[in-house]
Amino acid sequence: MQPVAIGLLGLGTVGAEVARRIEDRQGAFARRIGRTVIVRKVAVRDPQKPRNVPIPADRYITDPIQVATDPETTLVIELMGGIEPARTAVLAALEAGKDVVTANKALLAEHGAEIFAAARRAGRSVAFEGAVGGGIPVIHAISVGLAANRFAALAAILNGTCNFILSSMARSGLSYAEALRQAQELGYAEADPTLDVDGTDTSHKLAILAQLAFGASVTTDMIPRQGIDTLQSSDIQYAAELGYTVKLLAVARDHRDAGLELRVAPRLVRRGSPLAEVSGPDNAIRTIGEPVGSNLMSGPGAGAGPTASAVLADVIDVIIGRAALTARSLDLWPADAPAPRLCSPRDVRGRSYLRFMIADRPGVLGTIAQVLGQHGVSIASVIQHDPGEDDHPDAPVPLVIMTHPASEADLVAALQAIDFLPIVTPPSIRLGVED
Ligand code: NAP
Ligand code: HSE
Repeated sequence: MQPVAIGLLGLGTVGAEVARRIEDRQGAFARRIGRTVIVRKVAVRDPQKPRNVPIPADRYITDPIQVATDPETTLVIELMGGIEPARTAVLAALEAGKDVVTANKALLAEHGAEIFAAARRAGRSVAFEGAVGGGIPVIHAISVGLAANRFAALAAILNGTCNFILSSMARSGLSYAEALRQAQELGYAEADPTLDVDGTDTSHKLAILAQLAFGASVTTDMIPRQGIDTLQSSDIQYAAELGYTVKLLAVARDHRDAGLELRVAPRLVRRGSPLAEVSGPDNAIRTIGEPVGSNLMSGPGAGAGPTASAVLADVIDVIIGRAALTARSLDLWPADAPAPRLCSPRDVRGRSYLRFMIADRPGVLGTIAQVLGQHGVSIASVIQHDPGEDDHPDAPVPLVIMTHPASEADLVAALQAIDFLPIVTPPSIRLGVED
């Protein structure tokens, strides 16, 4: 039988690993799909770059559209990243009658509707297990294994770079900059790491998961987003004093009549709870569904090996026809899907960690407590340390408050009012607690 001929777009961290694994997993492919697999053409930006991959240099081409539409190939794997030229190449591949495998969450989150409409028109499939959760088969789990459930909520750690940075800062005392550099060297980070640390990458992944779990046409502009780039290491230490770990979480909750709550933000997670124990570049996805109950999937969330594992599983699924069946039964990104009803901050309640920088004077704590009380926010505990020996006597000092459950709208209004007080140096920090 003819080998499966692949057009590979991108030969970077993930693409190079996929190329190597295609070469050394030929026996497994032959057993699973009854055919061998070859990489026929590869799109790269710089054909002269030295690369440790078993592909002859004469297969490198700088035009991704030419690779995507090559008549000799039947399957295109897109691993260039970014929106363009990835979007045009994927659409061209589908139009030319090829199936597509991609790990490009930015592309799906921004242009999923257009791409899946093109796939339906062409009768081809688009598989994307590598786009969310790295090596954790979460797309398959939600769309196939848990397909009969009505999901009530999901809370997930979806960015390996951020989880690596937060774990390294909390456990090894690395600075934010050192931890980010290590994550880049290890191949976890996006080409532009701003997308990791400002929460954009996590919101792309949440948009995809919410689409699968809630059948809602979620776009990233619907997701309030806060990254870890505004977090201070002192917040990680105060959270630890209170018995919590800080994690960048993607959260989606179905509040039924009140709508869908969506957010990406650093949140406090009780130490010892399953999500708090997920460290390094690992990811985890906790779902609550009816009738299944609570499920937790965790594992390697970024990097060459885990992502290649997911991409190659998709290649097998596409070749044996399973990806087409799944896509058909899911009707992903339907063009006419209504926008979800989004929850108002008034309907979202929870505990919060608050940090104020205050003047170290009598009565300040009382003033802040009074403003919180006026907005219906009740205090559960307070931390204020003596100023350090080297601190200037007039320098503002941190005051940390843990609240009882309060509505998000009340908390936001209280912080705005407190930031106007002359005894406070804004901006005050609020991190939600994931209970
Ligand atoms: P990368 O290391 O930056 O590799 C990108 C590759 O695409 C490079 O080989 C580059 O060529 C090629 N390329 C980029 N623009 C091109 C253009 N205009 N024309 C031709 N070739 C082009 O990226 P990566 O980390 O492997 O990520 C690839 C995709 O997988 C992204 O969508 C990313 O979000 C996703 N992903 C990555 C990870 C991870 O841990 N890294 C995990 C899950 C998903 P040159 O080599 O010549 O520069
Ligand atoms: N940059 C991403 C991360 C890659 O760090 O999680 C995996 O999607």
